[in-house]
Amino acid sequence: MLYRKLLLLIFIETCVATSNSRFPKNFMFGCATAAFQIEGAWNEDGKTPSVWDTKNHQIPSVIRDNQTADISCDSYHKYKEDIALLAQIGVTHYRFSISWPRILPNGFNDTINQLGVDHYRKFIKELKANNIEPMVTIYHGDMPQSLGDLGGFYNASSVQWLTDYARVLFDLYGDDVKIWFTINEPYETCIWDGVVKAYECSKNLLKIHASIWHLYDREYRAKQAGAVSIPLNLNWYEPETNSTADIEAANTKLQFSWGFFGHPIYKGDWPEVMKRRIAMRSRGEGFEKSRLPEFTEEEIEFIRGTSDFFSANTYTTSIIRAEAEPPFGEPTIESDVGVFEYQRPEWQGAASSWLKVTPWGIKKLLVWLYNEYDKPQILVSENGYSDSDGRLDDPIRVNYLRDYLSNIREAMEEGVDVIGYVVWTLIDNFEWNAGYT
Ligand SMILES: *[C@@H]1O[C@H](CO)[C@@H](O)[C@H](O)[C@H]1NC(C)=O
Ligand SMILES: *[C@@H]1O[C@H](CO)[C@@H](O)[C@H](O)[C@H]1NC(C)=O
Ligand SMILES: *[C@@H]1O[C@H](CO)[C@@H](O)[C@H](O)[C@H]1NC(C)=O
Ligand SMILES: *[C@@H]1O[C@H](CO)[C@@H](O)[C@H](O)[C@H]1NC(C)=O
Repeated sequence: MLYRKLLLLIFIETCVATSNSRFPKNFMFGCATAAFQIEGAWNEDGKTPSVWDTKNHQIPSVIRDNQTADISCDSYHKYKEDIALLAQIGVTHYRFSISWPRILPNGFNDTINQLGVDHYRKFIKELKANNIEPMVTIYHGDMPQSLGDLGGFYNASSVQWLTDYARVLFDLYGDDVKIWFTINEPYETCIWDGVVKAYECSKNLLKIHASIWHLYDREYRAKQAGAVSIPLNLNWYEPETNSTADIEAANTKLQFSWGFFGHPIYKGDWPEVMKRRIAMRSRGEGFEKSRLPEFTEEEIEFIRGTSDFFSANTYTTSIIRAEAEPPFGEPTIESDVGVFEYQRPEWQGAASSWLKVTPWGIKKLLVWLYNEYDKPQILVSENGYSDSDGRLDDPIRVNYLRDYLSNIREAMEEGVDVIGYVVWTLIDNFEWNAGYT
């Protein structure tokens, strides 16, 4: 009998890897969205166009299905339905973003749009009435076009613009909102204009984030008692083999992804390997100095320590193999990193080609982040699965969520301080260049 029980146990352990442990009582469960992707009402009630509205209207063909986000999920009007869905799911938190051009139509804080202000007041009130706590992303892709025209994140004044905008939000909503995110996925925000500009943009974003954190810390924390973080994103990077070269290559990739923003914020300055490799690549490419802009000592101190918890958006895993130094030519982020990255063909895929189902990866990532950044509390601020057939009977997504949660729970059993889990997304939405596909 005992023997058979033992066999059964071994069977369960090896075949059914789902953790049966419960999450702690105060664990946060949420769903996430972003204003531009769901709200619609792009030109209503005093809202001006964002840079995404403009891009979307001028060149619809950059969107895979030639669609716009003009109506999208119509959440601006149907927010009560959204919140009823959240309540039905039983989440404790909703992570959403506030549309900057809805609150500040010309981008600056000298004109505040009362109808926009009222909308988010009603919205937050409705959430609270349903016992759902708001988590607010201050900036999620929709910069007012008027500021895009002034150079966007390449204008050094963007530090002031966003800090002023954040102050408006803290004043308006800070009594009700206890979790703030400054800039969603800074890596994705900067990486599209070529690698030279990307590093310059990233440096500005770090200063913007730090400036908002300091503002909160100095003037709001004592009375509002909330927390401020920045959602960093990317994959787990698994070395192809246990050779020293592959392990080092995977570490390099981790530093060029999570360390890109995590190192300045948690440790101070860019990661050493970024400084070293970009300087070396820049020399080979004939630049007079490194394409990676330096921080001054003051900037390093200003940015260090500006995160109240670690916010991680993550979906998948890549395999990393060491490769020979790429030839010098046009600079690219790939040659700056200098490793070979791929995903295994046998991994199950999603509608997004990059999103492979690798639940084991999130456990390794959480353990790595926890050790690398000196044991922070970690919120998984985005995780989820995309499909393209619109079926509600979606076992692959169900399995994805179950297996990722199970691995998160296991990481917690190994001591990682995970405080919550937020699914991207609540509803099918406008997925930037992928439109509604
Ligand atoms: C999108 O628009 C372009 C240019 O007008 C056209 O060639 C293409 O077929 C359209 N694609 C879809 C999916 O409608
Ligand atoms: C940067 O923004 C400021 C306003 O904050 C503006 O006066 C200045 O002209 C902008 N710079 C560029 C290069 O557009
Ligand atoms: C606008 O920003 C300026 C400069 O940071 C600040 O002094 C002022 O109080 C802000 N106004 C509002 C309404 O937040
Ligand atoms: C690397 O070593 C670890 C620990 O011994 C082992 O679990 C893992 O399977 C090895 N990976 C490869 C690709 O051999």
